[in-house]
Amino acid sequence: EPISETSPQDEALPKIPLFSDLPRDAFIALFERCPLRRFPEGGRIIEQGTRGDAFYVICAGRVRIVRQSGAEQRELAQLGEGAFFGEMALLSGAPRSASVVSASEETQVLEISAPVLASLSRSYPQVAKALRRFCRQRLLSDVVN
Ligand code: CMP
Repeated sequence: EPISETSPQDEALPKIPLFSDLPRDAFIALFERCPLRRFPEGGRIIEQGTRGDAFYVICAGRVRIVRQSGAEQRELAQLGEGAFFGEMALLSGAPRSASVVSASEETQVLEISAPVLASLSRSYPQVAKALRRFCRQRLLSDVVN
């Protein structure tokens, strides 16, 4: 019995709780299908108010979620490696609810398009379920705060 089934290459793969149920092959296939985008500190990944047809998983670095209302700008959250964002516009069709800005020297995000998410969700419905749960929680927290 092997003690662990992880191979040395696994160390290079980021830990992403959203995808923890995916078999390793499906996880790697996802990385091959989706572009990895890199943003310097201050780089704007999402602009509030625009249309969104993708969501993003943080593979390295950190982001700030910033909401502009009138002249006021508020930070709603900071997210780090393994977290995701941009699911709200994708699931609801509403404009982007906030801007997302790189808060690290280099932030790397995997961009997952609507069609890729749709096919992923057919094979792994728990991914879509988790996305909907986070979307609900963030909506509620945005209303309260
Ligand atoms: P979306 O509206 O597509 O684009 C902005 C993203 O910021 C949004 O999806 C969420 O992923 C994220 N977001 C909005 N509000 C919060 C919050 N309160 N906490 C964490 N993330 C948030």
